[in-house]
Amino acid sequence: MIRFSRLVPVALLGAGLVNVPVFAANVEQGRVKAEQVCAACHGKDGNTPIDPSYPRLAGQYKDFLERALLDYRSDARKNPIMGATAKQLTRDDVRNLAAYYASLPGGLSVKK
Ligand code: HEC
Repeated sequence: MIRFSRLVPVALLGAGLVNVPVFAANVEQGRVKAEQVCAACHGKDGNTPIDPSYPRLAGQYKDFLERALLDYRSDARKNPIMGATAKQLTRDDVRNLAAYYASLPGGLSVKK
């Protein structure tokens, strides 16, 4: 059920049924923040996490990254490490970090 309720807003966004104002993200500011805060665990390139159980972020969808960070921030997605990390981020940080990691080349792809 948790999964379902999370998917509905995404589906509505995808269908263009919900209008969300578009804010410009700053990839460069995202990179600076990522190196300061996130690289220690997710790797400098977002693709070499320090532990296999830590997710790769490089090349992930921007919307997915942004949603994950906002959910950690609000505890809608519960994780002690990321919850504490995300609560230090401003709304702009979240936007910039998501844009930065989405811009990196990554091995993530959809199998067809
Ligand atoms: C102390 C280590 C650590 C730091 C620092 C850290 N993360 Fe994480 N991150 C994790 C772990 C562990 C998970 C997996 C948590 C889970 O299972 O939900 C995770 C998960 C994530 C996810 C969810 C990815 C997915 O595929 O579901 C995102 C997005 C993320 N981190 C972004 C960031 C960003 C951006 C920063 C810097 C602001 C950051 N993390 C800093 C350890 C860390």
